[in-house]
Amino acid sequence: MDLTDHVVIVTGSTSGIGEAIARRLAGAGARVVVNSARSVEAGEALAAELGDATYVQGDIADPETARRLVATAEERWGRLDGLVNNAGVTIDVPQPDIESVTVEHWNRVLSVNVTGTFLVSQAALPLLRQAPDGWIVNISSIAGTRQTGSSLPYAVSKAAVDHLTSILAKHCGGEVRVNAVAPGLVDTPWTADWGDLKEGVKAIAPLHRVATPEDVADACMALISSRYVTGQSLLVDGGLSLVI
Ligand SMILES: NC(=O)c1ccc[n+]([C@@H]2O[C@H](COP(=O)([O-])OP(=O)(O)OC[C@H]3O[C@@H](n4cnc5c(N)ncnc54)[C@H](OP(=O)(O)O)[C@@H]3O)[C@@H](O)[C@H]2O)c1
Repeated sequence: MDLTDHVVIVTGSTSGIGEAIARRLAGAGARVVVNSARSVEAGEALAAELGDATYVQGDIADPETARRLVATAEERWGRLDGLVNNAGVTIDVPQPDIESVTVEHWNRVLSVNVTGTFLVSQAALPLLRQAPDGWIVNISSIAGTRQTGSSLPYAVSKAAVDHLTSILAKHCGGEVRVNAVAPGLVDTPWTADWGDLKEGVKAIAPLHRVATPEDVADACMALISSRYVTGQSLLVDGGLSLVI
């Protein structure tokens, strides 16, 4: 896939899935806006490594971050072709522990995963509509469609991301295709100490392994290049959803 001259934003791209997608897009020739809320050094290092790329520090839950991400692309390159809404957070409260979930937990998880994803999309749409083949890929989760995932607010937020994906796709029509990749369990810093869960997935998933960030990047690139697909959430879970 040749993305020479294309400009893309990848939120939460200093680590894990977002970093793999940013590397893949840059490898295809795209100019990348790298983003994270906290890891500034890693973001600047990745942007330097990717060549024609830049780093924007900012929490996507802050509306100002959405504005700065898009303004950076426009000021530097004068266009925006794609957006990967990858940044996400959870809380350290297992799903069955309903009593421990606080309003602060809900507000934080939804403000990043749902509001942040919407705000960056909203800010990006005017430029994406001008692109010859504009697209958005949201990173949701198997937790959005199954009664599983790292926490209850997280799972609900990812269901909202899937619904946001289909509604944006409906209203953006042929101007901007909007799809989602919904990973199962992926080996990233986020899941570094989830050893037992990974063994469980290896045991029961039809493909008998957890995903790598590159597996998710593969699916992202497939959706970007599939010009007759919009409004879809693609499960990338090694078949796990077939058995849980
Ligand atoms: N790993 C899995 O098994 C899995 C499965 C399904 C879905 N997902 C989804 O995939 C996405 C990436 O997960 P990952 O496993 O790759 O996580 P990760 O390795 O922890 O990376 C998360 C990235 O997002 C950034 N980030 C976090 N909060 C942010 C915010 N508010 N604003 C901007 N950037 C922010 C982080 O940088 P800073 O912390 O420095 O800001 C980091 O660059 C998430 O949306 C997650 O829900 C992951």
